[in-house]
Amino acid sequence: MRTGLLGGSFNPPHHGHLAMARAAQAALGLDRVVLIPAARPPHKPLSPDMASPHDRLQMTRALAAAGGPGLEVSAIELERLGPSYTIDTIQELRRLHPGDELYFIIGADTVGELPTWREAARLLGEVRFVVVNRPGFDLEAGLAVVADRLGAAAAARMREHVVTMPPQAVSSTEVRRRIREDAPGWRDLVPPGVADVIQAERLYGRSFVTTFTTIDRLAEHAGQRVELRGWLYKQRGKGKITFLHLRDGTGVVQTIVNREQVGEQVYERLKGLMQESALKMRGTPRKDERAPGGVELDVDDLEVVAPAAGEYPISLQEHGIDFLLSKRHLWLRSSKQHAVLRVRNEVIKAIRDFFYEKRFLLVDAPIFTPSACEGTTNLFEVKYFDEFAYLTQSGQLYMEAAAMAHGNVYCFGPTFRAERSKTRRHLTEFWMVEPEMAWAGLDDVMDLAEEFLEAVVGRALERCKEDLKVLERDVAPLERVRRPFPRITYDEAVKLLHDKGHAFEYGNDLGAPDETAISENFDRPVMIHRWPQQVKAFYARRDPQNDALALAVDVIAPEGVGEVIGGGERAVDLAFLEQQIAEHKLPKEAFEWYLDLRRYGSVPHGGFGLGLERTVAWICGREHVREAIPFPRTIYRKDP
Ligand code: 4AD
Ligand code: MG
Repeated sequence: MRTGLLGGSFNPPHHGHLAMARAAQAALGLDRVVLIPAARPPHKPLSPDMASPHDRLQMTRALAAAGGPGLEVSAIELERLGPSYTIDTIQELRRLHPGDELYFIIGADTVGELPTWREAARLLGEVRFVVVNRPGFDLEAGLAVVADRLGAAAAARMREHVVTMPPQAVSSTEVRRRIREDAPGWRDLVPPGVADVIQAERLYGRSFVTTFTTIDRLAEHAGQRVELRGWLYKQRGKGKITFLHLRDGTGVVQTIVNREQVGEQVYERLKGLMQESALKMRGTPRKDERAPGGVELDVDDLEVVAPAAGEYPISLQEHGIDFLLSKRHLWLRSSKQHAVLRVRNEVIKAIRDFFYEKRFLLVDAPIFTPSACEGTTNLFEVKYFDEFAYLTQSGQLYMEAAAMAHGNVYCFGPTFRAERSKTRRHLTEFWMVEPEMAWAGLDDVMDLAEEFLEAVVGRALERCKEDLKVLERDVAPLERVRRPFPRITYDEAVKLLHDKGHAFEYGNDLGAPDETAISENFDRPVMIHRWPQQVKAFYARRDPQNDALALAVDVIAPEGVGEVIGGGERAVDLAFLEQQIAEHKLPKEAFEWYLDLRRYGSVPHGGFGLGLERTVAWICGREHVREAIPFPRTIYRKDP
């Protein structure tokens, strides 16, 4: 038997397809032509204008029935999940029709589309090609491409059977357009059987054009056909139906895959798919109160873009933290980590909006710095050509310069501390936002700090409800983050510790357990101000009432979180700062520029720094700051 193979999207099948089959049949004396609707015609992989495989199969069958004897339909391509027009198809057809001579019928316009014919060389070895040429098609150009890629012999084989036809009256695209718009006479473009299917199923009026959407917006498209792209989260099947959970970065949705809709083979292969395989799915969303997110997707078509290579390393069971951190690049996909980074995003936006609305100017501070800001013990030194530089510990000194230029300013960026601390609050690289105000004293700094924290936490509560739910965060303590915050002096804090029976030596910095003990006495963040000068940095202004104290403030968050903000009023006096720099054994030359700020119009000013990761970890109720940054750097870890 001489069998012709006519592949295509058949979207919809029309008289042009019939004419092509008939022309090839007559020219080569083919006994039959098999129409093969493609799962995904390779030259239009993402066409939004594609009816479901099920619907296309039905229409193609109607075409074959209308077309008379010698026409058959094969669902072989539709039942496969992979690409179309491959050697697999041919080999499968060989098995089905042993002894047949196979002729692959293609349009001359596709001859040169070699990227869609990845296996063209192998195909040429297996089958003969019948090229249907039409006025307007540039067969020679196509053959030149074939010759270039596959050699002259291949091009010659392609030229063996060329059938010439009159020009096509109406293109597939035009046929679709007319049907969709119900233009008069569209029924004449497709055989009556096909027209009946289109009308009976209301194919074009209903849901032919697929809109691409995301899971978070799925409900808005209830009843319309959509496409989702994402990754397989989990699946559970029973009989003819598989529930497949797809996640796409905006959410997770339960999809329902019906064996009859997608075909036997697709359905079987689906069962073997591992978690995190990449998929495209098409179907119709349906609202359902019981479904998570209130919506489900009835799938009519799916495509495996990239099957997972094996069992996903971070499966749904529990893993140790060290393992998870070493797989941070994958751990990011887990629902809780996903939620944390979404909260981080919102917090960053809240911070920027807060300062923008208060007309603070964003001034970026450098990362390479010539000197220390927060003490010399935790500096990262880096080679800087023939010298050394330090990664910034704080942008503050630069913000002081900027405040004298612009008034109210802030910076927000990465900050580095070579801290050997192994606590759950320390990173070696973290993000800090640092506002600085000219003409401001300690009280102004505290006013700004409480207004700022209230705004940031409030915004996360308002806009991250779903994420906080995923994180199982009890939001009651966050709802109490309201002005005014209690303000106590360091002296009062120490007295409070002593009253509680804590052994604490006056003059020391507060440790984490001390901060927790103090914060237990308050239902919201507490501000501790006026610190022994020796625990604060060289730039802090002394309390005019008591030279032993620095006009500094720490804001301690509740629930054992501890310090999230450190700041205060800065020293304005040149001689005092020169003396401080000497006492702290800092290199004076490196600070000359900073001292200039006191030489030219030194005015009272102050500000603070808020640690982004501590704040995000607090809002998310995560124990450790390392989960609040995408790729944490700690004393233990700088990879992945
Ligand atoms: O208290 P710090 O060291 O203050 C300063 O750097 C000032 N120069 C800020 C200023 O006034 N402009 O740091 C401020 C905040 C801390 O309260 C904490 O939230 C965070 O930065 N922070 C850290 N976060 C994570 N890991 C670390 N190693 C951190 N060190 C400080
Ligand atoms: Mg501090």
